[in-house]
Amino acid sequence: MKILVIHGPNLQLLGAREPELYGRASLEEINSSLGEIAQREKVTIEVFQSNHEGEIVDAIGRALGLVDGILINPAAYTHTSVALRDAILSVKIPTVEVHLSNIYAREEFRHTSLIAPVAVGQVSGFGPRSYCLGLEALIYLLRDRLHARH
Ligand code: DQA
Repeated sequence: MKILVIHGPNLQLLGAREPELYGRASLEEINSSLGEIAQREKVTIEVFQSNHEGEIVDAIGRALGLVDGILINPAAYTHTSVALRDAILSVKIPTVEVHLSNIYAREEFRHTSLIAPVAVGQVSGFGPRSYCLGLEALIYLLRDRLHARH
């Protein structure tokens, strides 16, 4: 089982960026927690970060046929990107959306996710743990679907 982890814009600055909102863990630390879960669950993860909408769209397109699931924090593109939403719809790869902060407890413009309706689910508000919970939820969902087929 292979899972693509995508971090959207400004997440390379985690740890330094608004720590009161996003916590003190760096992106590297989050990725290493995800690596531990992947090892424990015997799945492969590939990690990608970009500040550029088109590069994220490209990464999702390239994943077609190669990846079983996508874990994504679309960051600011959550609220704006029809292109990202269409990319997920196009490849039909089960996708879990995660956010460090609770986007529904913040400014009104963050209450709308263009990604949520095309994701299998969303985890929001648990800090770096949102990623871990999202990855576990995605792995269990993919396993359930595999078992249902056999
Ligand atoms: C975020 C929430 C977004 O609204 C924001 O633009 C981010 C981070 C989060 O993880 O809480 O960059 O996705």
